[in-house]
Amino acid sequence: MSQDDSKSGLRKGLTNYGDAGFSLFLRKAFIKGAGYTDDALDRPVVGIVNTGSAYNPCHGNAPQLIEAVSRGVLMAGGLPMPFPTISVHESFSHPTSMYLRNLMSMDTEEMIRAQPMDAVVLIGGCDKTVPAQLMGAASAGVPAIQLVTGSMLTGSHRSERVGACTDCRRFWGKYRADEIDDAEIADVNNQLVASVGTCSVMGTASTMACMTEALGMMLPGAASPPAVTADRMRYAEQTGVTAVRMAKDRLTPDRIMTPAAFENALRVLLAIGGSTNGVVHMTAVAGRLGFDIDLAQLDRMSRETPVLVDLKPSGQHYMEDLHKAGGVPALLRELRPLLRLDALTVTGRTLGQELDAAAPAFPQTVIRSVADPIYPQGGIAVLHGNLAPGGAIIKQSAAAPALMEHEGRAVVFENAEDMARRIDDPDLDVRPEDVLVLKNIGPTGAPGMPEAGYLPIPRKLARAGVKDMVRISDGRMSGTAAGTIVLHVTPEAAVGGPLAYVQNGDRIRLSVARREISLLVDEAELARRRAAQPVSRPSAPRGYRKLFLQSVTQADQGVDFDFLRSDKNNGKIPGSR
Ligand code: FES
Repeated sequence: MSQDDSKSGLRKGLTNYGDAGFSLFLRKAFIKGAGYTDDALDRPVVGIVNTGSAYNPCHGNAPQLIEAVSRGVLMAGGLPMPFPTISVHESFSHPTSMYLRNLMSMDTEEMIRAQPMDAVVLIGGCDKTVPAQLMGAASAGVPAIQLVTGSMLTGSHRSERVGACTDCRRFWGKYRADEIDDAEIADVNNQLVASVGTCSVMGTASTMACMTEALGMMLPGAASPPAVTADRMRYAEQTGVTAVRMAKDRLTPDRIMTPAAFENALRVLLAIGGSTNGVVHMTAVAGRLGFDIDLAQLDRMSRETPVLVDLKPSGQHYMEDLHKAGGVPALLRELRPLLRLDALTVTGRTLGQELDAAAPAFPQTVIRSVADPIYPQGGIAVLHGNLAPGGAIIKQSAAAPALMEHEGRAVVFENAEDMARRIDDPDLDVRPEDVLVLKNIGPTGAPGMPEAGYLPIPRKLARAGVKDMVRISDGRMSGTAAGTIVLHVTPEAAVGGPLAYVQNGDRIRLSVARREISLLVDEAELARRRAAQPVSRPSAPRGYRKLFLQSVTQADQGVDFDFLRSDKNNGKIPGSR
């Protein structure tokens, strides 16, 4: 090891018994109980985060990945030490996985810090796990490399290719509109998730995988191999080898996650038509290193970054197709003039050097050229206006062009329960040109900012053939969803943001071209409503919920806990160029 031996390997972070020699003696005695030799214990230690769980099928290949990473660590002369942390799956987390992301980040940070390791391999995949791990690793400051579990395979339903979860929503929409029956919805339920692994479209998991590769925190090419492939296992082995090198070189996360690297990650988010959640998560990761994401600058980047990747929900294909088309390196080749090539990666080489060494291009139909994009601008547009003084976002690449410039009458739901109770009521006063508004699903409102921003089309309109409407909330939506949906309205209703004061019948104007979201009610009337209905921040009597409600920040701060952000202010990113 190149660093001070007293601060590496098993000697690192000794338990405090008041006698360092005894602490090391005791530590070794215990680990030898598991059959280790002094030779093994003298090597660089690589922790491997095990997020395998019966509750997390997206991580169902964790045992195989740990075996492959461990092989790589041993090949490079290190000692692999798998250890568990919390695992969070989208469908098995109540009230919502986002409520637990920060808890997982704390677990990850503190276990990396508490246990002796010279580098750590972060094995994650399902939506919140990769952000949580990057947040924790950024704060812990130990050399870290991300490995994702990889996407699931696609299935086949009556000859039609299907995958989670854009097709889950599409088929459920057909079922709600009575276009398919009970037998068919039960049939397709067996086919949507064809193997272990993460969602097969450009949802949040795939988005975070691609962004993390562009961020430099993952091996080049490692974002796209599906979970059950030999390629995925080879990347796992190579990740183990790389972790040992990172340990020896003390290649810490702050050297990789620089402003240039975050800019590359955001560029990729825009070019893949990625999940809106990518903005919130990358904001939280950046906050751990003292950076704020400048939404205005992100929007400027969006205007010059076309969507090139033809994956659902913005396009047609699935993650396994992106992998066969060359994966993220092939995309980065197209984006090269827009990238910060000087950014360092986990390999110890810059992004530019990695692109120079990447395999040559070949004909394929999944990653378009800049001259022939899927969508002429980036997937995400940032909106401002009196309804969202702190900003809101829309996934413009997955919205209906006819609704992007729209003014309509507000149909308001006070919270998720109110919406569930009334949305399908045949007597609901709603028309196709109305704007559906859902309040109180923000960071503190639900709490945990659930993915409930994808409001269903009211059943009576769905049955009449209405496929999309303008929908607005302070919540998030799944990266696998599509529609003209305004999200992350900041500040949220539950802390007294203007959204709290929208009433049935108010006029709302959306102009994506002008990046505007406006409530067409005059300020005197809004002041009257604020005075009549003062809002107090939600609270809880005890436990994690109390901590969450006291500490969670708004979407523009990444929905992180305020006390977990860096105590330094290193400025705004991306910077203007
Ligand atoms: Fe785990 Fe979609 S549910 S990635």
